[in-house]
Amino acid sequence: QKSDIKAPEKFALKETRIVTRNIGVIDPRNIDEYIARDGYFALSKALKMTPEEVIKEIKDSGLRGRGGAGFPTGLKWEFTAKTKADQKYIVCNADEGEPGTFKDRLIMEGDPHSVIEAMIIAGYAVGATKGYIYIRGEYYNSVENLKKAIKDAYEYGFLGEDILGSGFNFDLTVRLGAGAYVCGEETALLESIEGKSGRPRLKPPYPPQSGLFGKPTVINNVETLANVPQIILNGAQWFRSIGTPNSPGTKVFCLVGDVNRRGMVELPMGVTVREVLYGFGGGVKGGRELKMVQTGGLAGTFIGPDKLDVPLDYDSMKNYGVSLGSGVILAIDDSHCVVDIALNTMEFFRHESCGKCTPCREGTRLACEILEKMTKFEATMDDLKYLEQIAILSADASFCGLGQSINVPLLSLINNFKEEFIQHIKDKYCKVGLCKEEKKE
Ligand code: NAI
Repeated sequence: QKSDIKAPEKFALKETRIVTRNIGVIDPRNIDEYIARDGYFALSKALKMTPEEVIKEIKDSGLRGRGGAGFPTGLKWEFTAKTKADQKYIVCNADEGEPGTFKDRLIMEGDPHSVIEAMIIAGYAVGATKGYIYIRGEYYNSVENLKKAIKDAYEYGFLGEDILGSGFNFDLTVRLGAGAYVCGEETALLESIEGKSGRPRLKPPYPPQSGLFGKPTVINNVETLANVPQIILNGAQWFRSIGTPNSPGTKVFCLVGDVNRRGMVELPMGVTVREVLYGFGGGVKGGRELKMVQTGGLAGTFIGPDKLDVPLDYDSMKNYGVSLGSGVILAIDDSHCVVDIALNTMEFFRHESCGKCTPCREGTRLACEILEKMTKFEATMDDLKYLEQIAILSADASFCGLGQSINVPLLSLINNFKEEFIQHIKDKYCKVGLCKEEKKE
């Protein structure tokens, strides 16, 4: 059956570049080119403000965490500022691990100073004198560009002692992750920086109360930080004029999968899936039918073509059951099998589960077993029921966000495409012909 989705005739998709404004424009390894585009002017401005004024500006802007959860950044800074301690830290979560997400890599590669400048401003605002950038070890170019940028920032007096004659000191270090998805979970990340095995801690206490080495810590995602210098320079009201009232600013989307044009695009919050898919992506590849879209990363929701006009922001999950997450939009055409997609997704979580808690470790394993049975047409309707129960149990009882999020992709697939699961069970039939009954000797 043909769907009635049509690509808009002519699409006026206009990028709004805040965090990507310098990418492809400046040489990221040349600090002078960053300065020529107003680089470090926000730092200079912030250092003339009081720390409270800096926090107020960020709070007023409504900036929310771009790693996926959307927690208000200014609040995080305020909590950290208010916690008394002899040492505080700023940590940049650059351990981008969500499959399909590569925005942080390109920001760090293309404009490393924007992240560094933001971390120094955050340090000044909350009273932290040391920062760490915890970055995926595989992000070779980002690591190189960041290290060069940090070296240059020290030489120019933006890092180190008495920054720009303000009396404020800030040191910055890069730490490399070793490829574990769970190390992007903020408390596992802190453990890893401390030299321990990357396993999550119980929250609360949240990092602003007890973070790195037990000290108050701000942890912000790369994209979140990259917004900060522009907010300080242009003001909270300017930022609020972009996006939606509850989710101001832009979001960097990563469009992947079966589309004509894949890539990264920065658009105001509230843009619809259809606009990104057709306006930027040029529609489905090879003229095939769009079967579904996964939004928000592998832990995000699978939606059918009926939800393409949902505006993406931090309320879209609550209002429409469509996650924004880290901003991935994965287009899936009609050559894919729903059960195979579910299995693929669960295999990722099984592989990345750290094993600390039973619901996640065993839940992901059992989910894979059931889905494998389905692909071989050996599953029963009870198995489908167990699969739903595993998803709910894992969400309710897992220790950290990894296990807690497997219900989102799994239940959205089952709820939106139940018929195809049932076909595999009752009719022993895969309509795209991907699943085959194994020959038994
Ligand atoms: P969360 O909701 O537990 O926390 C979000 C942030 O808010 C954390 O920094 C947390 O410390 C802070 N926070 C929450 N309540 C607080 C309080 N009362 N006081 C102070 N701080 C508080 O979510 P979590 O587990 O940190 O992140 C989940 C998100 O991560 C998902 O939305 C998912 O999309 C995203 N994600 C992103 C990945 C990427 O590569 N960018 C990879 C995997 C997941």
